[in-house]
Amino acid sequence: MLFSAPLSLYPPEQTAYMQRVREILFSKYSSPPKAHIITYGCQQNVSDSERIKGMLIAMGYTLTDSPDGADFVLFNTCAVRGHAEDRVYGNVGGMKQYKRRRPNMIVAVCGCMAQQEQVAEKFKFSYPYVDLVFGTQVEHRLPEFIYRRLTEGKRIFELSLDNKDIVEDIPVSRDGDIKGWLPIMYGCNNFCTYCIVPYVRGRERSREPEKIIEEARNMVKAGYKEIMLLGQNVNSYGAGCDHGINFAKLLRMINDIEGDFRIRFMTSHPKDCTVELLDAIRDCEKVERRLHLPMQSGSSRILKLMNRRYTREKYLELINEAKKRIPDVVFTSDIIVGFPGETYEDFKETLSLVKEVEYSSLFTFIFSPREGTPAAAMEDPISREEKGRWFAELLREQDIIGLKKQRELVGKIVRVLCEEASSREGYIVGKTAGTASVEFEGDLSLIGKFADVKIESFTNILNGSLME
Ligand code: SAH
Ligand code: SF4
Ligand code: F3S
Repeated sequence: MLFSAPLSLYPPEQTAYMQRVREILFSKYSSPPKAHIITYGCQQNVSDSERIKGMLIAMGYTLTDSPDGADFVLFNTCAVRGHAEDRVYGNVGGMKQYKRRRPNMIVAVCGCMAQQEQVAEKFKFSYPYVDLVFGTQVEHRLPEFIYRRLTEGKRIFELSLDNKDIVEDIPVSRDGDIKGWLPIMYGCNNFCTYCIVPYVRGRERSREPEKIIEEARNMVKAGYKEIMLLGQNVNSYGAGCDHGINFAKLLRMINDIEGDFRIRFMTSHPKDCTVELLDAIRDCEKVERRLHLPMQSGSSRILKLMNRRYTREKYLELINEAKKRIPDVVFTSDIIVGFPGETYEDFKETLSLVKEVEYSSLFTFIFSPREGTPAAAMEDPISREEKGRWFAELLREQDIIGLKKQRELVGKIVRVLCEEASSREGYIVGKTAGTASVEFEGDLSLIGKFADVKIESFTNILNGSLME
């Protein structure tokens, strides 16, 4: 198997670099060199890392899950909150000792955090053992970067964010074989005032529908049972393109692909969620009955400061419209607590919206100021401790609601995707189309298949029994 991975369709100059890197590695190593990839952040980053792994394998590397003995270590980073960045600095710092032991090892940092100039500068001057730093729009040039590093010996910093066309046909090595990510678009145009993503990911660009359908077909053929369509705001898919295919139409096209699989998607910005999309979800039997609709705040005043471009009332209207049109729909959401200027009164509006909508689950965050965003410059008088108390109050409320939503499933028959063996002998765990986990007695051979399960009870997980 040594150095035998096929080179796929890919920009010709990068294919040539891949070939050269393979030759160099082949002459330097007696067995395939090892690459270790650490990924932070959202699914977009996880998906990017799968393409990075695909390129590395095509160049002759083999993947390893530890930096010990690795010849190439890469950190794919996230900048969305300060905490994410702190972890990266700590872990990249830990590479110093590895590098001392293996001076030929290449240490690389890429992704959203690396895209910020002040961060790249910091790696340049304070982390001399980092060999390669590259941004979110030049990932496909990894073969060239490795080639240059191996032959020229200079450190490389490449951050251009020029919004060129999407590079297709990058080799991909997916992490799982049941569920897979499929990016349909990149970047973001929304500029929510707290958010760094538009600055580090550039303007919105949609992939051609043919490319998406082709990739989805290949995934189904390869046995994937769940395809997660990715975009910072999938609802604006196709905007500015000539093909006239919007997200609702794209969903219908993917739904028409033959095979037994489920379609999920995220994220859906409430301001662009149309009735046409709700109807597509209702009509497409393969599309999950869950809408991830990040509300961020329940206060119209704060939503305006956040530049979310909807009000509490509009958001609720959308929720009610979705309930009306999609039987059994469940909702999930993202919420930020402690946005600059938020008062306890505003926070209580978030709390009351959470109670009213009854989300199955929530992703909750305390506001983290991001350098260069408008919100980072806004006055923020509430202390971290106070925000922490509000945050805890929100979690307590959601715990009660989450349990209630789980219990509502008792007595129902649900279709689950069998995902893994349970820690309980003889049992497996499956996920419903609303992403609830169900444990039931069953054979391991069910893993990777769909099954109908009757929900019998709820303890700390839903317990079910397999239908004949
Ligand atoms: N594009 C997606 C979200 C991407 S970031 C959307 O619009 O919903 C994921 C979540 O991180 C956001 O929904 C938001 O809740 C949170 N987030 C983003 N920036 C943040 C910040 N500066 N502080 C705290 N949370 C933040
Ligand atoms: Fe950030 Fe808003 Fe874009 Fe989501 S829609 S990535 S929150 S700017
Ligand atoms: Fe983080 Fe970038 Fe995703 S900032 S949340 S990895 S788009």
